[in-house]
Amino acid sequence: MPEPVVIEGAGEMQARARELARTGKSIGFVPTMGALHAGHMSLIERARRENDVVVVSIYVNPSQFGPDEDYSRYPRPFEADKALCAAAGVDYIFAPKTLYAEDVRTWVTVGGLEDKLEGLSRPGHFRGVATVVTKLLSIVRPDRAYFGRKDAQQLLIIQVLTRDLDLGCQIVPCETAREPDGLAMSSRNSYLTPSERRQALAIHRALEYCRTQVKLGELDAMKLLGGMGDILSQQPDLEVDYIAIVDADTLEDLRAVQGDVLVAIAAKVGKTRLIDNIRFEEVA
Ligand code: PAJ
Repeated sequence: MPEPVVIEGAGEMQARARELARTGKSIGFVPTMGALHAGHMSLIERARRENDVVVVSIYVNPSQFGPDEDYSRYPRPFEADKALCAAAGVDYIFAPKTLYAEDVRTWVTVGGLEDKLEGLSRPGHFRGVATVVTKLLSIVRPDRAYFGRKDAQQLLIIQVLTRDLDLGCQIVPCETAREPDGLAMSSRNSYLTPSERRQALAIHRALEYCRTQVKLGELDAMKLLGGMGDILSQQPDLEVDYIAIVDADTLEDLRAVQGDVLVAIAAKVGKTRLIDNIRFEEVA
């Protein structure tokens, strides 16, 4: 497998992408912060299947981390990431040193969606995500960009901004890749001790409990939230941030599972913050 070409300069990446587009090649793009795992790889493999050229960006974006978050200790195993990209047939790795001018004054915010769920606990997070994704999409100009459903709110915000700003790129949602026992794959799982790793599984168990209850006909949000809360509260080192049953398009709380619904959990296990979710589509 040929090595991917590593590009650090935004201008160079943009020029290369323009050249590829001119020759009629379709570009599939997978934005990441690196520390690639099987979840990222499932996006990359799909991009490989559906496009002539695959670009993966690896950039730990400072503007989406809060002051007390893990920006400085976020894992950055670049050589291992590069090897994974090579094995998956990635053509270009875009790995900028920085994407921000020192006097940056332009930020992208998506009204009504940024101050809910994750946004409440992570003020400014989605402004950082929306801005960097807008920049990355403007640089790479892909035909298709691939995002995971594990970050459901992020995916929704990116779908909305792509539409609102006419970025002309198809956003492709990809299913959550999981460990064999069901834990959603995440770069942050590497922070967990063995005991925390066991307790973290309760997040998946709570979501599966909700899925089963809905199948059995229980649609009342309060009851479902209570049941999920009970499962999570049995773990001594797990602290719930939120458990939410919301409209999948507006992220507004629902009283009942009806229509397109997102059930989302965020919890700290030890010091590590994890998120996961499931969706119901058009439940009567
Ligand atoms: P990162 O956390 O590295 O994730 C990159 C992409 O991989 C995102 O679209 C995310 O949803 C997806 N992903 C992560 N875990 C996954 C899993 N278990 N299954 C399927 N997909 C998964 O998300 C970001 O980076 C950043 O916010 C970014 C969009 C790159 C902007 O900085």
